[in-house]
Amino acid sequence: MTTRIMTVYGTRPEAIKVAPLIKALEESQDFESVTVVTGQHREMLDQVNELFGIVPDHDLDIMSHGQSLAQIFSRVIEGLDPILEKEKPSAVIVQGDTSTSTAAALAAFYRQIPVVHVEAGLRSGNIHSPFPEEANRKLTTQIATLHLAPTETSRSNLTAEGVDDAAIAVTGNTVIDALLTTVGKEIPFTEPRLEELASSGRRILLVTTHRRENWGGAMEGVGRALARVARAFPDLEIVLPAHRNPIVRDAVLPQLEGVENVTVSEPLPYGEFARMMALSTVILSDSGGVQEEAPSLGKPVLVMRENTERPEAVAAGTVKLIGTEEERIVAEVTRLLTDDDAYTAMSGATNPYGDGSASHRSLEALATAVTGLRAPGHP
Ligand code: UD1
Ligand code: UDP
Repeated sequence: MTTRIMTVYGTRPEAIKVAPLIKALEESQDFESVTVVTGQHREMLDQVNELFGIVPDHDLDIMSHGQSLAQIFSRVIEGLDPILEKEKPSAVIVQGDTSTSTAAALAAFYRQIPVVHVEAGLRSGNIHSPFPEEANRKLTTQIATLHLAPTETSRSNLTAEGVDDAAIAVTGNTVIDALLTTVGKEIPFTEPRLEELASSGRRILLVTTHRRENWGGAMEGVGRALARVARAFPDLEIVLPAHRNPIVRDAVLPQLEGVENVTVSEPLPYGEFARMMALSTVILSDSGGVQEEAPSLGKPVLVMRENTERPEAVAAGTVKLIGTEEERIVAEVTRLLTDDDAYTAMSGATNPYGDGSASHRSLEALATAVTGLRAPGHP
C-alpha cells in the first residue's frame, strides 16, 4: 500500500526546493504524491513548475497585488482546509519560512495531520530579520513532526530549542539537487540581449533584491549604488532580473534610468538564472536561495542584509554580509572588481549545503518515520 504525501508550496523558492522532492516522490513505489500550490506567487511560481514539468493537483490561486501577510495566511488556511479533508494525506510537506509554508503547516496541524518541515532549523537569531521569515520558521518548528535539517548547524539550532534529536534528519538542502540538475544544461536565454552578453565575455554583476525588511529607503539606496557602480565600471554589465513585486520595482528601477550598462529583465526562468549565476563575476543579492547556490558555483556573493540564517556559506568564505548602506555596497563591489586577491579569496567552490542527494535522503527519512508519524500531541 502506498502512503499519500501532500506537498504544499506557493512561492518561487519553495517551488525550486520542493521540485526534486516531488519528482522523487512520484518515482517512488512507496508513496503517492499530491501537490497543492497556494499561488502566493503566480508567474514566478508557474515558471518553476513548467521547468520541472510539475502540474499541481490543486491551485488555491490566492495572489493579489499588495497582499498583506494576514491576507496570505488566512487565504491559505481557508483554501487548504477542504483539500486536506478531501485528500486525507498521511503527512503534509512544507518548505522553509514563507507565509504559505507556515499557514499550510498550521492547517495540517489543526487536522492532526503530521507536518514534515523541509529546510528546518535555520535561525538568524533576530525575530524581526528576516521579517516575517524568522518567526514563520520558528512557528513551524513548534508544530512539525519530522524536521529535515539541511546542515548540522540547523540540527543544533533545533535541538537547542528542545526538538527531539530522533525527529530530525540532516539531509542537505534540496536547492542543490535542483541546481545540479539544471546548471549544466546551457539553457538559451529568452532575451536576445542576455544571449549576446553571454557570448561577449564581459564581466557581469548579477543582482537580485526583494526582502521585505529592505523595502523603501534601503532599496532606493541599492538602486543608487548600482547606478554608481555601473558608471564607475563601463566594461561591466549589471544584470537585474527584477522581482515582480511593484514595491521593489518602484524603489530600485527609477535610480537606474538612463544608465547604459544595466540590463533590467523580468524574473529569469530558473534554468536561465542558474546559467547567469555561472556566467557572473560577482553576485549581489538579499536572496536566501542564492546564498545557498552560489558557493557550489564558486561565485562570490555580497549579501545585502544585516544578518543571515545561513552562516555556513559565510564560514566557507564565498558569502559576505554587507548590509544595505549605499556607500558600503559601492565599496564592497568595487573591491571585488579591482582586487584580485580579495576576489580569489571568495571564489573557491564549496558545497556547505549538500551534494545533490538531499531529496533522496529526505525520502529515506520520511520512509523511516512514516509508520510512526503523528502530529505533536496526537495519541
Ligand atoms: C515572498 C516570501 C519570502 C520569499 C519571497 C521569494 C512571505 C511573507 N514572503 O516574498 O519569504 O523570500 O517570496 O521571492 O511569504 N508578485 C507578482 N507575481 C509573482 C510574485 C509576486 O506579481 O509571481 C507581486 C504581487 O504584487 C505580490 C507581491 O509581488 O502581491 C509580493 O509577493 P509576496 O509573496 O507577498 O511577497 P514576496 O516579497 O514575494
Ligand atoms: N531565481 C530565479 N530567477 C530569478 C532570480 C532568482 O530562478 O530571476 C532563483 C534563485 O536561483 C533561487 C531562488 O530563485 O533558487 C531564490 O528566490 P528568491 O530570491 O525569490 O527567494 P529567497 O530564496 O530569498 O526566499
